[in-house]
Amino acid sequence: MTAIEHAVESLRSGGLVAFPTETVYGLGADATNTPAVRKIFKAKGRPATNPLIVHVMNAEIARRYCTAWPAAAEKLAATFWPGPLTLVLPKAQSIGDEVTAGRKTVGLRVPRHPVALELLEKFGVAVAAPSANRSNHVSPTTAEHVREELGKELEILDGGPCAVGIESTVLDLSAELPTILRPGNVTREQIEAIIGAVGMFGGSVESGTAASSPGLGERHYSPVTPTFLFEGEAPYAAGVGVVRLGKKTLTPDPLPEYRARGPEVVLPNDPVGYARLLYAALRELDRQKLQAIQVEMPPDSPEWTAVRDRIHRAGVAISH
Ligand code: TXA
Ligand code: MG
Repeated sequence: MTAIEHAVESLRSGGLVAFPTETVYGLGADATNTPAVRKIFKAKGRPATNPLIVHVMNAEIARRYCTAWPAAAEKLAATFWPGPLTLVLPKAQSIGDEVTAGRKTVGLRVPRHPVALELLEKFGVAVAAPSANRSNHVSPTTAEHVREELGKELEILDGGPCAVGIESTVLDLSAELPTILRPGNVTREQIEAIIGAVGMFGGSVESGTAASSPGLGERHYSPVTPTFLFEGEAPYAAGVGVVRLGKKTLTPDPLPEYRARGPEVVLPNDPVGYARLLYAALRELDRQKLQAIQVEMPPDSPEWTAVRDRIHRAGVAISH
């Protein structure tokens, strides 16, 4: 029996399986099996008010799990699926209230990862899966990260490091004006090119309140180490880790020989490359039990929206 076949059996018998997607690893259960879905909330320590994303093999199957399929859904699915875009639509009855945290809508997506797609195809039923981390922690982008978060007992399909590295764009199509609830690798501009104007949910909300997307709660994706954000260059300091934005010239440390520096991780100065490595960088620095982590913010321009959103959730902005 292959690992994927074994995972299918586990899902069929109401168990949990962690699996790779192109964004982050997911912690999956049969989306139509309520006791199985409850196990996800328990394993993550996730509040029951935060709905799960439902993963399917293709758009045709997605339609079975919602009661409306507007032209915008058809066009977006044709353009971006499989891929990092979640569509929020009125839910079908087969999706229980546990999955959607009592909402009348369900978030659906088709992941762009061969292991996820084979699992979904062989299982044949929708898989509810949030990111495979403890609630409020940084999402896992490798199988090893999942193990660190949720332990050795969990069945994990290893599909290597995730190519996108941050969670999918969540687009609410159940509202009058389609609205981005969570920015991601599929940008507002790309969506607007297909369906016209979309809104952006701008506010930050406390987790656990009746927000339209509870994942938008502040500090939802944070390291344990206190994390501070800098517009511009972060200073050097002993015992403090830095996530730097790669650039050609860095201001040299005035006292390099005399001052101990904390570890530094330099990330690529492009949104796709940066997103891919961001969570691994935060995890690496978090592991080192430093006094603090400093993150340099990329520019406040549209192509960086999703990355800036995740950095904002990881830490506290410093004005200087
Ligand atoms: O890339 C991803 O989306 C990953 C992979 C595993 O697919 N999943 C993920 O799931 O990030 P999770 O549970 O960590 O985040 C799901 C987000 C939350 O912010 C949640 O509030 C929102 O999607 N969401 C899910 N269903 C929703 C609904 N019916 N209405 C509004 N927001 C919803
Ligand atoms: Mg998550």
